[in-house]
Amino acid sequence: MYSAHHFDDWDSPVSATLPADAAVDAGAPVKTALAHDREAFAALAPVNAADKRIVNGKADINQLAPFKYPWAWEFFLKANRNHWTPLEIGMAQDVHDYHHKLSAAERHVFENVLAYLTTSDILAMRNIGLAVMEKMSAPELQIYQARQVYEEALHTWTYQHCIESLGLDQQEIYNRYRVVPAIHGKIQLANQRLERVLRSDFDLTNRGNLHEFALSYFFFAVIFEGCWFYNGFTPVFALQRRGLMKGAAEQLQYIMRDEVLHCAFGIRVVRELLKEENLALDPQALRLLWDEAEAAESAYAGYILREPILGYNAELHVQQFRFIANRRARQVGVSEPFPGAENVLPWLDEQANLRKEKNFFETRVTEYQTGGALAWE
Ligand SMILES: [Fe+2]
Ligand SMILES: [Fe+2]
Repeated sequence: MYSAHHFDDWDSPVSATLPADAAVDAGAPVKTALAHDREAFAALAPVNAADKRIVNGKADINQLAPFKYPWAWEFFLKANRNHWTPLEIGMAQDVHDYHHKLSAAERHVFENVLAYLTTSDILAMRNIGLAVMEKMSAPELQIYQARQVYEEALHTWTYQHCIESLGLDQQEIYNRYRVVPAIHGKIQLANQRLERVLRSDFDLTNRGNLHEFALSYFFFAVIFEGCWFYNGFTPVFALQRRGLMKGAAEQLQYIMRDEVLHCAFGIRVVRELLKEENLALDPQALRLLWDEAEAAESAYAGYILREPILGYNAELHVQQFRFIANRRARQVGVSEPFPGAENVLPWLDEQANLRKEKNFFETRVTEYQTGGALAWE
């Protein structure tokens, strides 16, 4: 049986918990801080920011400041300014749209985008939370990544909320990535990357492993989040532009704003990591990454848009992927993979910028007035 006494055990006299051979010899001289040798004393000095490293650092990871990467802390503060929950966005009109307004081709697009995204976000969470965070050796980097892990979980909640609101078959939707080859292709590429850096014998003091890790980080931040996610919402935004599935699209806009930060943070980490470790990404390995990503994205677009919908088709989707890929490459500082690709969907960047805080809060007020949230009044 628990009692308050059990929780107070830590307050017991130390001597009561020391083994017999550790008992203090009353006759021995008392050791003071002054008696420590200089080396031991230096080891207790506060952290020097210059000693921090992205990986393989030796500085005490339990001390947040002084910052070596103040931008990482800024990312954390900025991320906290985009907080919402899926329950705050009305889905009633979407239920009607989905069942009565969408064509069969549009329902096919919507469901498969949802199936792809929900699997992807679980993978994104596992990558940052299990493979990346434990390798970071500066706390300011880990803290933003902890927020990112939460956001990926929030995104998964958002998709689940959409799936539940629309009454879709959950088992079928979540399993779809395994039975639809065009979705599986993208997930498999990501899984392969993740598995390589999750190995228990992965040692970042080995230069080959360090390059593998940098390449994996590049893949997840630049391609997976920066291109596939950024461009992955567009089929639903194409519906939204015609007044359809506006609740789901608004949810995706909030997710997209998080993803823009994830990508920007990841690119910054990759750049700093390469500089700090005096490392360059192998151009051939990069070319292979881009080519695999483009092939997987083309197959995916060909499947979800096997029939074009009004204002959107597979060719536009792939062209936009190439255009965004070039932008990301410039941001990292590597050569453009698809020179000459055009911005065929200029409205996509406007979606990312959002500029709808005002609408968002107006929506919330309306929802609270009409929903059950004020039932106690
Ligand atoms: Fe996400
Ligand atoms: Fe993300």
